[in-house]
Amino acid sequence: MGTVLSVLANLTAPTSGVGSFTCQPGHSCWPSLQEWDAFNQTVSGRLKVPVILSSPCFPSSPNFNEEECASVLGSYGDGFFRQSIHGALQNTAWEGCGNENCFPGIVPPRGPICSLGRLSPIYVDVETPDDIAATLAFSKKHDIRIVIKNTGHDYFGRSASANSLAMRTNNLKNMSFEPEFTAYNCPAANKKNIGIIGAGVNAAQATGFFSKHGMSVTAGACPTVGIAGGFGLGGGHGPLTPTHGLMVDQAVEFDVVTTDGVFRTINECNEPDLFWAMRGGGGSSFAVLVNYKFQLHPEVRWATWRIEATLSPESPDITENTVLREILTSVSNEQYQWSKNRVTGYDTVSHTFVSFFQILPDSGDALAKLKKATANFHSFMTTHPGIKVTTDLYQVFDNQPEFYAGEAEGIAAGSIVGASILTPSRLITTDDIETPEKIDALVSAFLQGMETARKQLGEGLAAGVAFFLLKTGAINTPDTVQATSVNPAWRKTLWHVIVIAAWPPGAPKDISDKIAATARDALDVIKAPLSVQAAYFNEADPAEPDWENVFFGEPYEKLLAIKKKWDPDTVLNCAKCVGYLGEQDPMYSCDSKNPIPSVPYPFRQAESAIMDDGNFIIDVQKEL
Ligand SMILES: Cc1cc2nc3c(=O)[nH]c(=O)nc-3n(C[C@H](O)[C@H](O)[C@H](O)COP(=O)(O)OP(=O)(O)OC[C@H]3O[C@@H](n4cnc5c(N)ncnc54)[C@H](O)[C@@H]3O)c2cc1C
Ligand SMILES: *[C@@H]1O[C@H](CO)[C@@H](O)[C@H](O)[C@H]1NC(C)=O
Ligand SMILES: *[C@@H]1O[C@H](CO)[C@@H](O)[C@H](O)[C@H]1NC(C)=O
Repeated sequence: MGTVLSVLANLTAPTSGVGSFTCQPGHSCWPSLQEWDAFNQTVSGRLKVPVILSSPCFPSSPNFNEEECASVLGSYGDGFFRQSIHGALQNTAWEGCGNENCFPGIVPPRGPICSLGRLSPIYVDVETPDDIAATLAFSKKHDIRIVIKNTGHDYFGRSASANSLAMRTNNLKNMSFEPEFTAYNCPAANKKNIGIIGAGVNAAQATGFFSKHGMSVTAGACPTVGIAGGFGLGGGHGPLTPTHGLMVDQAVEFDVVTTDGVFRTINECNEPDLFWAMRGGGGSSFAVLVNYKFQLHPEVRWATWRIEATLSPESPDITENTVLREILTSVSNEQYQWSKNRVTGYDTVSHTFVSFFQILPDSGDALAKLKKATANFHSFMTTHPGIKVTTDLYQVFDNQPEFYAGEAEGIAAGSIVGASILTPSRLITTDDIETPEKIDALVSAFLQGMETARKQLGEGLAAGVAFFLLKTGAINTPDTVQATSVNPAWRKTLWHVIVIAAWPPGAPKDISDKIAATARDALDVIKAPLSVQAAYFNEADPAEPDWENVFFGEPYEKLLAIKKKWDPDTVLNCAKCVGYLGEQDPMYSCDSKNPIPSVPYPFRQAESAIMDDGNFIIDVQKEL
C-alpha cells in the first residue's frame, strides 16, 4: 500500500480547459442536470442512460432478476444480442475499468456490484445528422470527450471510454439499392449497382437485404460486425476480398458530419482528401459517418471445402513436429496460386489439430474450380500417413446468405465474443514466400512461435492462445491510383495471421496477463523473419509499439495532415488512431494506474469523489 503522498504524486490533474475534452463528472465544467435536460431537447429526447447487460445478475442492482440473468447468461456470447444494447461491448476486456465491471461471474466469484466500468454513462441514440451535430456542439461547449459506438466490436476498446458522452450509431439502419447511382455533383462517380447503408447496418442485415436484389456484399466472415463503421472505414476484409478487394475499395460516396457540425456528402470530386482518408484511415478519426455508399457485386455461388485432421506428434516440442511443418510448408507452397484464383478462407492450427476452411465464390462452376485449385493439398492431406483426416467436406451454396447460414457453426467458432480477446497480428505478404528459403524461415518461425506459447502456458492454459491464418489478402486489387488510404501492405497480403489470446471476463489478472503476454511473445517470434512489418488496424495489438508504421504504413503522414485539417481540435480521439493524443488523455484512465470508472447518471457520487481542482481523492481514500 502506498502512502497518500506517493499516490498524490502519481496523480496528474487533468488540464481542463476549452478544447481539451477532459471535463469529468464532478468538475465545475460538467453540465448540470438542467443542462443535460436542455441538451436532451436538442436531440429530440434521444439522450439515454445505458442499462448494463449483466445488471440483472447483481442482487445490489435495481434490475436484479434471476430469470433475466439466466437469459443474459444464455446469450452472453451472441454478437447480435450484445450490440442490441448500449450497455455492452463485444470484447469484455474493454467493459471493465480497474477492478470495476459488470461481469456476471462466468468465472466465479462475481463482483459485489455491477459498475459501468469503461462504458460511457450517457449516450445519444443517433437517428439524424442533426443529432450528431448537436452532440458535437455539446461536447465542445462542455469540454466532454465523445466516443462513437456502433456494434462495439472494436478490439482496442475504441467504442467505449469512461465518463465520455457516446454517440450510438447502431440504429442508423437505412438500406437502399441503386441500380443506377447518381453521385453528388460528380459524374465520374456515377455507378451501377450501388448499395447505400446507414452507419449502423451489420453484415447479416446487408447481405440479407442486397441478396434480395441479386447482389452480394464485401462483408467480413462474422455476420454481426458492422460493415459501415470501423470495418468500412478501416479496411474490411472478408471472403470476397481476393475477388473484389476490401470494403474500402467498394466505397463511392459517404454522407458524413464533420467535427464542425456540417453535414457533407463526400466523394472523389467533393472533399476528396476527406473521402480518401475515410477509405482506410480508420473509424472515429476524421468525421462521423452517416451513410456508406458502395459497389455491390452480382450474386454468385459459393463453394467451400473444410478439411480437419488430428496429428499425433511424437515429441511435445512443436518445433520437432515434422508433420505440422510439412502441412504449413504445403500451404505456403499453394497459397499464391489459391489467392490468385480467388480462393479465400480461414484456418487454425495447433500441435495436434488442424482445420482448413477454403471458400471460392464464383459465377461459373464454383465447386469444380475449388476442387481443382485445392487438388494438390487435398491429396497431400488425405494420403499422408501422419495425418488423420476427421472431416473432408466440399459444399456449394446458391448465394451469400446461404453460405453464411450453412457455415454458421464454423464461422461462429472463429469469431468469439462475450469474452476478453487480444489479437496480436501480422500481414504475411507475397515477399515472405518468394523462395523455398523464405518459406522455410516463415514456417520455422511459426512453429517456434507455437512452441513459445506451449512452453509458457503449460497444459492448463493451453486453450488461452490460438493460431489463426486468414486467407483474406487483397493481392488481386492493386489500387494503383491509391484511391484508398488503407495500409498498402494489404495489396501484397496472402495471410492475415492472428495469435488470438482469450480469457473469460473476470479471470484472475495473473492468468489473463500471462495469456496476453504469451500471445505477444509468440507473435514476436513469428514476425521476426517477415519482410514487411504490417498489421490490420482493426485486428491487432493495442500495445503495438511502432503503431503508426505497422498499422498505416506510408500513408500515415498524409492521413495526419488531413486529420489536422478536418479535426483541428481532436474532437475525435481514439487508441492508436491517426493523430492519437496518447495515454495521458483522461479518456484512457481505465488503461492507466489510476483508473476512473464511469460515474453513473445523475453523476452524484462524483461530487464527493473528485475535487474540483481535478485531484481524484477517491483513489487516495481507497489507499488509506
Ligand atoms: C468477432 C469479430 C469478428 C470480426 N471479423 C472481421 C472480419 O471478418 N473482417 C474485418 O475486416 N474485421 C473483422 N473484425 C474487426 C472489425 O472490423 C472491427 O472490430 C471494427 O472496428 C468493427 O466496427 P464496428 O463499427 O462494428 O464496431 P465499433 O466497435 O462500434 O466501432 C469501431 C470503431 O469505429 C468507430 N465508428 C463506428 N461507427 C462509426 C461512424 N459511424 N463514424 C465514425 N466512426 C465510427 C468507433 O468509434 C470505433 O473507433 C471482427 C471483429 C470481431 C470482434
Ligand atoms: C430524454 O428525454 C426523453 C423523452 O422525454 C426521456 O425519456 C429520457 O429519459 C431523457 N433522457 C435523460 C437522460 O434524461
Ligand atoms: C433514412 O431513410 C428515411 C426514409 O427515406 C429518410 O427520411 C431519412 O432521412 C434517412 N436517414 C438517414 C440518416 O439518412
